[in-house]
Amino acid sequence: MTQDELKQLVAREAIKYVVEDAIVGVGSGSTADFFIDELAKIKNRIAGAVASSEKTAARLKGYGIRVLELNSVDELPVYIDGADEITQHLHMIKGGGGALTREKIVAAVAKKFVCIADESKLVPVLGEFALPVEVIPMARSYCARQMVKLGGNPRLREGFTTDNGTVIIDVSGLKILNPPELEAKINNIPGVVTNGLFALRGADVLLLGTASGVKKMGSE
Ligand code: 5RP
Repeated sequence: MTQDELKQLVAREAIKYVVEDAIVGVGSGSTADFFIDELAKIKNRIAGAVASSEKTAARLKGYGIRVLELNSVDELPVYIDGADEITQHLHMIKGGGGALTREKIVAAVAKKFVCIADESKLVPVLGEFALPVEVIPMARSYCARQMVKLGGNPRLREGFTTDNGTVIIDVSGLKILNPPELEAKINNIPGVVTNGLFALRGADVLLLGTASGVKKMGSE
């Protein structure tokens, strides 16, 4: 099976977690895109969706799925999104597509976070994938220096601006042994909007696409 076929497999499986007549939170990236394609098939059975990026909102609208502002939503039973890396503890690195802040906000509101990923994303320790850190442009250099102090190697994502008008520093070389602690530490640096560690609020369920089918981890 190709990586895209594995992504499609978990996207299909994730439909089982969508609550009828409710609003669903939808993530960003290629795996989330496959999920949107599946969601379109059952669009008449949901009340609408909250999108974690402008790109996701456009894809949802393209299918005629109603997209709601998060502020107008009281309850979000489930949020479905991909990851760049995930551990068996369901801690993740996200933000490869640059939508980390909105993803973290929608995930915070959701009762259940279902992560969908192909098996290449499951890692023993986070940090092989450079950690995205979203920062206010005027704090770019300061934040980069703070990342060096934490043992990282920061690199500005050239030519990229987030949906929030901010920039991203990708930090390689971090061996992340305590994800919740590092997540909080980086978020405390003035100028940081948020970082791509999703550990304080990790996933509740992981649907992992493998050659032998979908492997489920976490609790329902
Ligand atoms: C975007 C993300 C994505 O979930 C992450 O980059 C995974 O993407 P893909 O499904 O394309 O591998 O965090 O900000």
